[in-house]
Amino acid sequence: AAGAEPYVPEHADLAELRAAVQACRGCPLYQGSTQAVFGAGPADARVLLVGEQPGDQEDRRGQPFVGPAGRLLDRALAEAGIDRAEVYLTNAVKHFKFERAERGKRRIHKRPSRGEVLACQPWLLAELREIRPELVVCLGATAAQAVLGSSFRVTQHRGELVALPQRLRWADADDTAPTPRVTATVHPSSVLRDPDRDDAYQAFRADLRAVAAALRP
Ligand code: URA
Ligand code: SF4
Repeated sequence: AAGAEPYVPEHADLAELRAAVQACRGCPLYQGSTQAVFGAGPADARVLLVGEQPGDQEDRRGQPFVGPAGRLLDRALAEAGIDRAEVYLTNAVKHFKFERAERGKRRIHKRPSRGEVLACQPWLLAELREIRPELVVCLGATAAQAVLGSSFRVTQHRGELVALPQRLRWADADDTAPTPRVTATVHPSSVLRDPDRDDAYQAFRADLRAVAAALRP
């Protein structure tokens, strides 16, 4: 398996991409999981949010951000004045990576490797090409490094707005739209794990409020 590229149909719309991803064998992660979880949201979304990978509930239900982290994200988006129905939500990696708790059935999230993130990148590129968002919001280090490179540190550059790197730009000669921008914040799961959850939540919500402000008018 040398990456998702051969599995990504050319000139496909979101519905065709969503169907095709189920057949991806671009890395070993398809083997243990229930299904691939593609992005969700309208094709004309102005904002594209990137998480890490589906979690246990996302893997079962086939939708991104429908578990505990998704509920926290929903609340923070709503309080920041961003309508979840108007954004496109996806993940850097489309299959759930986990290990089994000893003897138990519980599946414990494992962070995807850099190789797995790279293998899955063609799907994210295809989504970017279809959505053409004004703003990409990376949730956590995996997403930020997938989009902004492996030396990017969320702790140092959280909330900054930078240009979308050229390698992720859709080739489009007649595209007169301004260069899409990227920002990174923490992952909602890290807020759930933070000993100072209230502070972490407020900082996360503040980052999303800055996203809302960057979009106006
Ligand atoms: N965490 C993620 O990064 N993505 C999801 O879809 C769910 C949890
Ligand atoms: Fe393909 Fe990505 Fe799934 Fe790997 S994680 S099999 S590259 S869709």
